[in-house]
Amino acid sequence: AEMISFIEGLPKAELHLHIEGTLEPELLFSLAQRNNVALPYASVEELRAAYAFTDLQSFLDLYYAGAAVLQTEQDFYEMTMAYIVRSRADNVRHSEIFFDPQTHTERGIGIDVVFAGIARALREAREKHGFSSAMIMSFLRHLSEEDAFATLEVALPLRAEYRDLWIGIGLDSAERGNPPEKFARVFARCRELGFHLVAHAGEEGPPQYVKDALDVLHVERIDHGVRSEEDPVLMKRLAAERIPLTVCPLSNLKLCVVDDMRKHNLARLLHAGLAVTVNSDDPAYFGGYMNANYLAVAAALRLSRTELVMLARNAVEATFLPTTVKQQLL
Ligand code: HPA
Ligand code: ZN
Repeated sequence: AEMISFIEGLPKAELHLHIEGTLEPELLFSLAQRNNVALPYASVEELRAAYAFTDLQSFLDLYYAGAAVLQTEQDFYEMTMAYIVRSRADNVRHSEIFFDPQTHTERGIGIDVVFAGIARALREAREKHGFSSAMIMSFLRHLSEEDAFATLEVALPLRAEYRDLWIGIGLDSAERGNPPEKFARVFARCRELGFHLVAHAGEEGPPQYVKDALDVLHVERIDHGVRSEEDPVLMKRLAAERIPLTVCPLSNLKLCVVDDMRKHNLARLLHAGLAVTVNSDDPAYFGGYMNANYLAVAAALRLSRTELVMLARNAVEATFLPTTVKQQLL
């Protein structure tokens, strides 16, 4: 109980959060009804019961199917606002949010609809509550690099309108067989354009993908990165360069990246000097928002208050906020 209130009290920043992964079954069902989208589940309970995953792909199949209920600007707004309300309750002060436009444009939803709905909620949260945020547009790595280029092209005309929010580019979806190299050219273009760069690497994929995300894509943070531990040379480099890892404990458990939270390597990574952070990834699917993720590792790995403070500080330091603004978050 003491641990819970200590975690609640920590001001937190979230750096690994897919907005489509915050779509709770209740909202998913109500949007399906509103938009006349047929679901293969009879009830919220039945849908929730389907959230039993064996690996990343088994989750992605449901995650993309669930996103089909998102049709209008208002739908994206409501999903994002629900995430903000839930995160503020966890004392999250800042969030850098991934969104996957290809999941929506493939279904005929305009990319302007996606940007507008998410941004309206984020701006309202900033104005009303001082909740700060940023948007990181992520490419789906199971699709081609050509597809990523096409997405960048339709998104770029919106850049001026969303200059206050859209600061970065990410890479997500099925990792194995889709190495960073596949997206070298589009990431080079995004780098020229001045975007911050991040990529999922070393979740299911090998440590080589983490190295290639750094050396080929030139990313500034690694999303997940837990498999880096298999390469001692890489570990030394991540520590020396203080490359942030956005670790997602409950996600790793639900997707069987670890089979027991007590075996999670988060504490070892932290003790090796890496800039480890705690994040919720897809909280509606993995069973917990930020405080639940902190609590899960605190309990399973017997983390001290000092270690919890380090994790929360690492996240603030790893944000893409200007230094002066970071200091206000600490
Ligand atoms: N890994 C890869 N793709 C994803 C994830 C993840 O954890 N969450 C949503 N898309
Ligand atoms: Zn993720």
